[in-house]
Amino acid sequence: MKVLVVGGGGREHALCWAISKSPKCKKLYAAPGNAGIADVAECVDISAEDVKGIVHFAKSEKINFVVIGPEAPLVSGLADELGKAGIKAFGPSAKAAAIEGSKGFMKDLLAKYGIPTAEYGRFNEPDAAKEYITRNEHKVVVKADGLAAGKGVILCHNKNEAYAAIDHIMTERAFGGAGDEVLVEEFMEGEEASFFALVDGTHAVALASAQDHKAAFDGDTGPNTGGMGAYSPAPVIDQAMHDKIMKTIIEPTIKGMAEEGCPYKGVLFAGIMITDQGPKVLEFNARFGDPECQALMARMKSDVLDALLACADGTLDKANIQWNKETALVVVMAADGYPGHYEKGSGINNLAAANAIEGVTVFHAGTQTDGDKIVSSGGRVLSITAMGKSVKDAQAIAYKAVDTIDWPEGFCRRDIGWRALDR
Ligand code: AMP
Ligand code: GLY
Repeated sequence: MKVLVVGGGGREHALCWAISKSPKCKKLYAAPGNAGIADVAECVDISAEDVKGIVHFAKSEKINFVVIGPEAPLVSGLADELGKAGIKAFGPSAKAAAIEGSKGFMKDLLAKYGIPTAEYGRFNEPDAAKEYITRNEHKVVVKADGLAAGKGVILCHNKNEAYAAIDHIMTERAFGGAGDEVLVEEFMEGEEASFFALVDGTHAVALASAQDHKAAFDGDTGPNTGGMGAYSPAPVIDQAMHDKIMKTIIEPTIKGMAEEGCPYKGVLFAGIMITDQGPKVLEFNARFGDPECQALMARMKSDVLDALLACADGTLDKANIQWNKETALVVVMAADGYPGHYEKGSGINNLAAANAIEGVTVFHAGTQTDGDKIVSSGGRVLSITAMGKSVKDAQAIAYKAVDTIDWPEGFCRRDIGWRALDR
Protein backbone atom coordinates (compact mmCIF):
# COMPACT_ATOMS: atom_id res chain seq x y z
CA MET A 1 0.00 0.00 0.00
CA LYS A 2 0.91 3.67 -0.33
CA VAL A 3 1.46 5.36 3.01
CA LEU A 4 1.87 9.06 3.85
CA VAL A 5 3.35 10.17 7.18
CA VAL A 6 2.47 13.75 8.16
CA GLY A 7 5.18 15.68 10.02
CA GLY A 8 8.91 16.25 9.94
CA GLY A 9 10.32 15.70 13.43
CA GLY A 10 12.26 12.93 15.14
CA ARG A 11 8.97 11.21 15.95
CA GLU A 12 8.04 11.11 12.26
CA HIS A 13 11.49 9.87 11.26
CA ALA A 14 11.10 6.98 13.70
CA LEU A 15 7.59 6.25 12.38
CA CYS A 16 8.82 6.33 8.75
CA TRP A 17 11.82 4.13 9.61
CA ALA A 18 9.56 1.54 11.26
CA ILE A 19 6.80 1.69 8.63
CA SER A 20 9.33 1.37 5.79
CA LYS A 21 10.30 -2.05 7.17
CA SER A 22 6.77 -3.39 6.74
CA PRO A 23 6.36 -5.70 3.73
CA LYS A 24 2.90 -4.12 3.27
CA CYS A 25 4.40 -0.70 2.58
CA LYS A 26 5.13 -0.41 -1.15
CA LYS A 27 5.60 3.35 -1.27
CA LEU A 28 6.18 5.79 1.58
CA TYR A 29 5.80 9.58 1.49
CA ALA A 30 6.36 12.18 4.20
CA ALA A 31 4.99 15.72 4.35
CA PRO A 32 7.19 17.66 4.82
CA GLY A 33 9.75 15.15 6.18
CA ASN A 34 13.41 16.09 6.77
CA ALA A 35 16.89 15.15 5.55
CA GLY A 36 16.92 11.86 7.48
CA ILE A 37 13.39 10.86 6.49
CA ALA A 38 14.47 11.31 2.86
CA ASP A 39 16.53 8.09 3.24
CA VAL A 40 13.40 5.99 3.78
CA ALA A 41 10.55 8.02 2.23
CA GLU A 42 9.87 10.49 -0.54
CA CYS A 43 9.53 13.92 1.06
CA VAL A 44 6.89 16.25 -0.36
CA ASP A 45 7.00 19.96 0.34
CA ILE A 46 3.66 20.35 2.14
CA SER A 47 3.45 21.71 5.68
CA ALA A 48 2.07 19.32 8.32
CA GLU A 49 -0.50 22.02 9.13
CA ASP A 50 -1.75 22.42 5.56
CA VAL A 51 -4.88 20.26 5.86
CA LYS A 52 -6.17 21.11 2.38
CA GLY A 53 -2.78 20.51 0.75
CA ILE A 54 -2.38 17.13 2.45
CA VAL A 55 -5.87 15.93 1.50
CA HIS A 56 -5.30 17.09 -2.08
CA PHE A 57 -1.96 15.25 -2.29
CA ALA A 58 -3.37 12.07 -0.70
CA LYS A 59 -6.24 12.05 -3.20
CA SER A 60 -4.11 12.73 -6.24
CA GLU A 61 -1.45 10.13 -5.29
CA LYS A 62 -4.12 7.58 -4.28
CA ILE A 63 -2.62 7.17 -0.81
CA ASN A 64 -4.15 4.23 1.09
CA PHE A 65 -3.21 5.24 4.63
CA VAL A 66 -2.16 8.52 6.26
CA VAL A 67 -0.32 8.46 9.60
CA ILE A 68 -0.64 11.82 11.34
CA GLY A 69 2.31 12.63 13.64
CA PRO A 70 1.76 16.05 15.30
CA GLU A 71 -1.21 17.44 17.23
CA ALA A 72 -1.89 20.62 15.24
CA PRO A 73 -3.32 18.93 12.10
CA LEU A 74 -5.34 16.54 14.30
CA VAL A 75 -6.92 19.42 16.19
CA SER A 76 -7.60 21.14 12.82
CA GLY A 77 -9.53 18.08 11.60
CA LEU A 78 -7.11 16.39 9.19
CA ALA A 79 -8.36 12.90 10.10
CA ASP A 80 -11.97 14.05 9.52
CA GLU A 81 -11.16 15.58 6.12
CA LEU A 82 -9.29 12.47 5.00
CA GLY A 83 -12.25 10.37 6.13
CA LYS A 84 -14.61 12.48 4.02
CA ALA A 85 -12.32 11.87 1.04
CA GLY A 86 -12.46 8.12 1.68
CA ILE A 87 -8.84 7.88 2.87
CA LYS A 88 -7.94 5.86 5.93
CA ALA A 89 -6.03 7.74 8.62
CA PHE A 90 -4.21 7.00 11.87
CA GLY A 91 -5.15 9.67 14.40
CA PRO A 92 -8.28 10.92 16.18
CA SER A 93 -11.00 13.19 14.81
CA ALA A 94 -10.86 16.88 15.72
CA LYS A 95 -13.55 16.30 18.32
CA ALA A 96 -11.60 13.49 19.97
CA ALA A 97 -8.29 15.39 19.67
CA ALA A 98 -9.83 17.97 22.04
CA ILE A 99 -8.48 15.65 24.72
CA GLU A 100 -5.16 17.40 23.96
CA GLY A 101 -6.46 20.60 22.30
CA SER A 102 -8.56 21.72 25.25
CA LYS A 103 -7.33 21.07 28.77
CA GLY A 104 -10.74 22.14 30.10
CA PHE A 105 -12.50 19.49 28.01
CA MET A 106 -10.00 16.90 29.20
CA LYS A 107 -10.36 17.78 32.89
CA ASP A 108 -14.16 17.80 32.75
CA LEU A 109 -14.08 14.37 31.10
CA LEU A 110 -11.83 13.01 33.85
CA ALA A 111 -14.05 14.51 36.56
CA LYS A 112 -17.23 13.14 34.99
CA TYR A 113 -15.86 9.60 34.71
CA GLY A 114 -14.03 9.54 38.05
CA ILE A 115 -10.54 9.27 36.56
CA PRO A 116 -7.76 10.31 38.97
CA THR A 117 -6.21 13.72 38.28
CA ALA A 118 -5.32 16.97 40.09
CA GLU A 119 -8.10 19.12 41.60
CA TYR A 120 -8.84 22.08 39.33
CA GLY A 121 -10.95 25.08 38.45
CA ARG A 122 -11.72 26.52 34.96
CA PHE A 123 -11.93 30.27 34.49
CA ASN A 124 -12.53 32.69 31.62
CA GLU A 125 -12.07 35.76 33.72
CA PRO A 126 -8.90 36.74 35.71
CA ASP A 127 -10.57 37.90 38.95
CA ALA A 128 -12.42 34.63 39.43
CA ALA A 129 -9.19 32.68 38.81
CA LYS A 130 -7.34 34.80 41.38
CA GLU A 131 -10.11 34.37 43.91
CA TYR A 132 -9.82 30.57 43.51
CA ILE A 133 -6.07 30.84 44.06
CA THR A 134 -6.61 32.92 47.21
CA ARG A 135 -9.07 30.37 48.60
CA ASN A 136 -6.88 27.36 47.74
CA GLU A 137 -4.43 26.02 50.30
CA HIS A 138 -2.31 24.05 47.82
CA LYS A 139 0.49 25.22 45.60
CA VAL A 140 -0.94 25.51 42.10
CA VAL A 141 -0.14 25.13 38.41
CA VAL A 142 -1.70 27.64 36.00
CA LYS A 143 -2.39 26.47 32.43
CA ALA A 144 -3.69 28.09 29.27
CA ASP A 145 -6.63 26.03 28.00
CA GLY A 146 -5.57 25.70 24.35
CA LEU A 147 -2.50 24.53 22.46
CA ALA A 148 0.55 26.63 23.32
CA ALA A 149 3.36 24.49 21.91
CA GLY A 150 4.02 22.97 25.34
CA LYS A 151 4.70 26.38 26.90
CA GLY A 152 1.29 27.25 28.34
CA VAL A 153 1.92 25.62 31.73
CA ILE A 154 3.27 27.68 34.63
CA LEU A 155 4.34 25.94 37.85
CA CYS A 156 3.75 28.40 40.70
CA HIS A 157 5.58 28.18 44.02
CA ASN A 158 3.44 30.72 45.87
CA LYS A 159 0.28 32.77 45.46
CA ASN A 160 2.05 35.81 43.99
CA GLU A 161 3.56 33.70 41.23
CA ALA A 162 0.11 32.28 40.56
CA TYR A 163 -1.52 35.73 40.32
CA ALA A 164 1.28 36.80 37.96
CA ALA A 165 0.71 33.69 35.83
CA ILE A 166 -2.97 34.60 35.46
CA ASP A 167 -2.01 38.11 34.31
CA HIS A 168 0.60 36.72 31.93
CA ILE A 169 -1.86 34.36 30.24
CA MET A 170 -5.15 36.29 30.42
CA THR A 171 -4.22 39.99 30.48
CA GLU A 172 -0.92 40.06 28.59
CA ARG A 173 -2.26 37.23 26.38
CA ALA A 174 1.16 35.56 26.21
CA PHE A 175 -0.32 32.57 24.35
CA GLY A 176 -2.97 34.49 22.40
CA GLY A 177 -6.39 32.86 22.16
CA ALA A 178 -5.11 29.67 23.83
CA GLY A 179 -5.33 31.68 27.06
CA ASP A 180 -8.92 32.92 26.75
CA GLU A 181 -9.62 30.33 29.38
CA VAL A 182 -7.27 29.14 32.16
CA LEU A 183 -7.11 26.14 34.38
CA VAL A 184 -5.81 26.36 37.93
CA GLU A 185 -4.68 22.95 39.20
CA GLU A 186 -3.40 21.46 42.42
CA PHE A 187 0.39 20.98 42.19
CA MET A 188 1.03 17.23 42.26
CA GLU A 189 4.23 15.76 43.72
CA GLY A 190 5.70 12.52 42.39
CA GLU A 191 7.56 10.92 39.49
CA GLU A 192 6.36 11.52 35.94
CA ALA A 193 6.04 8.87 33.25
CA SER A 194 4.61 8.63 29.75
CA PHE A 195 2.11 5.86 29.02
CA PHE A 196 0.98 5.02 25.49
CA ALA A 197 -1.99 2.99 24.33
CA LEU A 198 -3.26 2.29 20.85
CA VAL A 199 -7.01 2.72 20.61
CA ASP A 200 -9.50 1.80 17.87
CA GLY A 201 -12.60 3.46 19.29
CA THR A 202 -13.46 0.63 21.67
CA HIS A 203 -10.35 -1.47 22.35
CA ALA A 204 -7.16 -0.22 23.95
CA VAL A 205 -3.82 -2.02 23.73
CA ALA A 206 -1.04 -0.74 25.95
CA LEU A 207 2.25 0.02 24.27
CA ALA A 208 5.50 0.22 26.19
CA SER A 209 6.09 2.82 28.91
CA ALA A 210 8.70 5.56 28.66
CA GLN A 211 10.16 8.49 30.54
CA ASP A 212 10.95 11.86 29.04
CA HIS A 213 13.36 14.60 30.22
CA LYS A 214 11.57 17.91 29.76
CA ALA A 215 14.10 20.38 31.19
CA ALA A 216 16.79 21.74 28.87
CA PHE A 217 19.85 21.05 31.05
CA ASP A 218 21.44 18.37 33.22
CA GLY A 219 19.89 17.71 36.60
CA ASP A 220 16.48 18.75 35.26
CA THR A 221 17.44 22.44 35.34
CA GLY A 222 16.70 25.21 32.86
CA PRO A 223 13.56 25.92 30.87
CA ASN A 224 11.05 23.26 29.79
CA THR A 225 11.45 21.92 26.26
CA GLY A 226 9.56 19.52 24.03
CA GLY A 227 11.78 16.76 25.47
CA MET A 228 15.56 16.32 25.61
CA GLY A 229 15.74 12.54 25.88
CA ALA A 230 13.80 9.42 26.77
CA TYR A 231 14.06 5.75 27.51
CA SER A 232 11.75 2.79 27.35
CA PRO A 233 10.70 0.80 29.30
CA ALA A 234 10.32 3.05 32.36
CA PRO A 235 11.21 1.04 35.49
CA VAL A 236 8.79 3.16 37.59
CA ILE A 237 5.93 1.46 35.72
CA ASP A 238 6.12 -2.14 36.90
CA GLN A 239 3.43 -4.66 36.00
CA ALA A 240 1.17 -3.70 38.94
CA MET A 241 1.41 0.00 38.05
CA HIS A 242 0.82 -0.81 34.38
CA ASP A 243 -2.37 -2.73 35.23
CA LYS A 244 -3.55 0.07 37.50
CA ILE A 245 -3.02 2.71 34.79
CA MET A 246 -4.93 0.62 32.24
CA LYS A 247 -7.80 -0.02 34.63
CA THR A 248 -8.19 3.34 36.36
CA ILE A 249 -7.09 5.68 33.56
CA ILE A 250 -6.92 4.36 29.99
CA GLU A 251 -9.99 2.10 29.90
CA PRO A 252 -12.42 4.55 31.57
CA THR A 253 -11.11 7.35 29.33
CA ILE A 254 -11.82 5.34 26.16
CA LYS A 255 -15.27 4.46 27.45
CA GLY A 256 -15.96 8.07 28.41
CA MET A 257 -14.90 9.38 25.01
CA ALA A 258 -17.23 6.92 23.27
CA GLU A 259 -20.08 7.91 25.58
CA GLU A 260 -19.44 11.59 24.87
CA GLY A 261 -19.95 10.91 21.16
CA CYS A 262 -16.28 11.26 20.21
CA PRO A 263 -14.84 7.74 20.17
CA TYR A 264 -11.05 7.86 20.32
CA LYS A 265 -8.93 6.31 17.56
CA GLY A 266 -5.18 6.58 17.37
CA VAL A 267 -2.53 6.65 20.05
CA LEU A 268 -3.54 7.95 23.45
CA PHE A 269 -0.52 9.37 25.28
CA ALA A 270 -1.14 9.85 28.98
CA GLY A 271 1.27 12.02 30.95
CA ILE A 272 1.08 10.40 34.39
CA MET A 273 2.23 11.55 37.81
CA ILE A 274 2.94 8.58 40.08
CA THR A 275 1.84 10.09 43.41
CA ASP A 276 1.58 8.63 46.93
CA GLN A 277 -2.11 8.08 46.16
CA GLY A 278 -1.40 6.23 42.92
CA PRO A 279 -1.16 7.25 39.27
CA LYS A 280 -2.92 10.50 38.26
CA VAL A 281 -3.33 12.14 34.86
CA LEU A 282 -1.23 15.24 34.18
CA GLU A 283 -2.36 15.57 30.61
CA PHE A 284 -3.44 13.60 27.57
CA ASN A 285 -1.94 13.95 24.13
CA ALA A 286 -3.59 12.76 20.94
CA ARG A 287 -0.30 11.65 19.34
CA PHE A 288 2.97 9.90 20.10
CA GLY A 289 5.45 11.73 22.33
CA ASP A 290 8.62 13.07 20.83
CA PRO A 291 11.25 11.73 21.74
CA GLU A 292 9.39 8.83 23.40
CA CYS A 293 8.22 7.58 19.99
CA GLN A 294 11.81 7.08 18.85
CA ALA A 295 12.39 4.72 21.80
CA LEU A 296 9.12 2.86 21.18
CA MET A 297 9.79 2.38 17.47
CA ALA A 298 13.31 1.15 18.20
CA ARG A 299 11.83 -1.50 20.53
CA MET A 300 8.79 -2.61 18.53
CA LYS A 301 9.56 -5.99 16.98
CA SER A 302 6.22 -6.65 15.28
CA ASP A 303 4.99 -4.81 12.20
CA VAL A 304 4.11 -1.24 13.22
CA LEU A 305 2.02 -0.65 10.10
CA ASP A 306 -0.25 -3.57 11.08
CA ALA A 307 -0.74 -2.07 14.54
CA LEU A 308 -1.53 1.43 13.22
CA LEU A 309 -3.92 0.02 10.61
CA ALA A 310 -5.73 -1.98 13.30
CA CYS A 311 -6.52 1.34 15.07
CA ALA A 312 -8.14 2.72 11.93
CA ASP A 313 -9.92 -0.57 11.11
CA GLY A 314 -11.28 -1.23 14.61
CA THR A 315 -9.47 -4.58 14.83
CA LEU A 316 -7.04 -3.95 17.67
CA ASP A 317 -8.47 -6.86 19.64
CA LYS A 318 -6.71 -9.11 17.13
CA ALA A 319 -3.41 -7.24 17.13
CA ASN A 320 -0.31 -8.90 18.50
CA ILE A 321 2.35 -6.35 19.34
CA GLN A 322 5.80 -7.67 20.22
CA TRP A 323 8.58 -5.79 21.98
CA ASN A 324 12.29 -6.16 22.20
CA LYS A 325 12.99 -6.64 25.94
CA GLU A 326 16.10 -4.46 25.78
CA THR A 327 16.13 -0.77 26.73
CA ALA A 328 16.03 1.95 24.11
CA LEU A 329 17.49 5.29 25.15
CA VAL A 330 17.26 8.51 23.15
CA VAL A 331 19.52 11.56 23.51
CA VAL A 332 18.22 14.68 21.77
CA MET A 333 20.80 17.02 20.22
CA ALA A 334 19.47 20.56 19.93
CA ALA A 335 20.75 23.83 18.50
CA ASP A 336 22.53 26.11 21.01
CA GLY A 337 19.93 28.48 22.46
CA TYR A 338 16.98 26.07 22.21
CA PRO A 339 14.24 26.33 23.55
CA GLY A 340 14.88 30.08 23.19
CA HIS A 341 16.38 31.74 20.13
CA TYR A 342 18.75 29.60 18.02
CA GLU A 343 20.47 29.84 14.64
CA LYS A 344 19.74 27.54 11.71
CA GLY A 345 22.01 26.34 8.94
CA SER A 346 25.07 24.97 10.79
CA GLY A 347 26.74 21.91 9.24
CA ILE A 348 26.54 18.49 10.92
CA ASN A 349 29.22 15.86 10.18
CA ASN A 350 29.96 12.18 10.95
CA LEU A 351 26.28 11.18 11.02
CA ALA A 352 26.97 8.01 9.05
CA ALA A 353 29.73 6.95 11.46
CA ALA A 354 27.41 7.46 14.44
CA ASN A 355 24.62 5.55 12.74
CA ALA A 356 27.00 2.66 12.01
CA ILE A 357 27.66 2.01 15.72
CA GLU A 358 26.07 -1.31 16.70
CA GLY A 359 22.63 -0.71 18.26
CA VAL A 360 22.43 2.96 17.21
CA THR A 361 19.91 4.67 14.95
CA VAL A 362 20.24 8.40 14.36
CA PHE A 363 16.81 9.93 13.81
CA HIS A 364 16.64 13.41 12.34
CA ALA A 365 14.30 16.22 13.43
CA GLY A 366 15.23 19.75 12.28
CA THR A 367 17.64 18.90 9.46
CA GLN A 368 17.78 19.66 5.77
CA THR A 369 20.25 19.12 2.97
CA ASP A 370 22.34 21.96 1.60
CA GLY A 371 24.13 20.64 -1.47
CA ASP A 372 25.75 17.43 -0.23
CA LYS A 373 25.79 18.60 3.40
CA ILE A 374 23.31 18.09 6.23
CA VAL A 375 22.54 21.32 8.09
CA SER A 376 20.37 22.18 11.07
CA SER A 377 16.96 23.71 10.40
CA GLY A 378 15.21 23.63 13.77
CA GLY A 379 15.55 23.63 17.57
CA ARG A 380 15.61 19.90 18.24
CA VAL A 381 17.81 18.51 15.47
CA LEU A 382 18.77 14.86 16.10
CA SER A 383 17.52 11.98 18.28
CA ILE A 384 20.38 9.57 18.91
CA THR A 385 18.68 6.28 19.76
CA ALA A 386 20.54 3.29 21.19
CA MET A 387 19.49 -0.21 22.21
CA GLY A 388 21.21 -1.84 25.19
CA LYS A 389 20.79 -4.67 27.68
CA SER A 390 20.16 -2.11 30.45
CA VAL A 391 19.62 1.63 30.78
CA LYS A 392 23.33 1.96 31.61
CA ASP A 393 24.34 0.02 28.53
CA ALA A 394 22.02 1.90 26.20
CA GLN A 395 23.19 5.19 27.70
CA ALA A 396 26.87 4.39 27.12
CA ILE A 397 26.18 3.43 23.48
CA ALA A 398 24.03 6.52 22.86
CA TYR A 399 26.71 8.89 24.20
CA LYS A 400 29.38 7.12 22.15
CA ALA A 401 27.30 8.00 19.08
CA VAL A 402 26.73 11.57 20.33
CA ASP A 403 30.50 11.99 20.74
CA THR A 404 31.06 10.72 17.21
CA ILE A 405 28.89 13.47 15.73
CA ASP A 406 30.67 16.67 14.81
CA TRP A 407 28.30 19.59 15.35
CA PRO A 408 29.87 22.43 17.36
CA GLU A 409 26.67 24.51 17.30
CA GLY A 410 24.63 21.81 19.08
CA PHE A 411 24.23 20.64 22.67
CA CYS A 412 22.62 17.77 24.56
CA ARG A 413 22.01 16.69 28.13
CA ARG A 414 24.65 14.27 29.45
CA ASP A 415 22.40 12.62 32.05
CA ILE A 416 19.57 11.02 30.05
CA GLY A 417 18.36 7.99 32.02
CA TRP A 418 19.39 9.29 35.46
CA ARG A 419 16.08 8.46 37.15
CA ALA A 420 16.22 4.84 36.10
CA LEU A 421 19.92 4.61 37.08
CA ASP A 422 19.18 6.18 40.50
CA ARG A 423 16.65 3.52 41.45
P1 AMP B 1 1.25 19.50 30.78
O1 AMP B 1 1.55 20.02 29.40
O2 AMP B 1 -0.10 19.84 31.27
O3 AMP B 1 1.62 18.05 30.97
O4 AMP B 1 2.32 20.21 31.71
C1 AMP B 1 3.71 20.23 31.42
C2 AMP B 1 4.51 19.79 32.61
O5 AMP B 1 4.19 20.59 33.74
C3 AMP B 1 4.21 18.38 33.05
O6 AMP B 1 4.96 17.45 32.32
C4 AMP B 1 4.61 18.43 34.51
O7 AMP B 1 6.00 18.32 34.67
C5 AMP B 1 4.20 19.80 34.93
N1 AMP B 1 2.83 19.80 35.49
C6 AMP B 1 1.68 19.99 34.82
N2 AMP B 1 0.61 19.92 35.65
C7 AMP B 1 1.10 19.67 36.87
C8 AMP B 1 0.50 19.49 38.15
N3 AMP B 1 -0.82 19.57 38.33
N4 AMP B 1 1.32 19.24 39.19
C9 AMP B 1 2.66 19.17 39.03
N5 AMP B 1 3.29 19.35 37.87
C10 AMP B 1 2.52 19.59 36.78
N1 GLY C 1 7.89 14.46 24.92
C1 GLY C 1 6.64 14.94 25.32
C2 GLY C 1 5.73 15.30 24.24
O1 GLY C 1 5.89 14.88 23.11
O2 GLY C 1 4.77 16.00 24.52
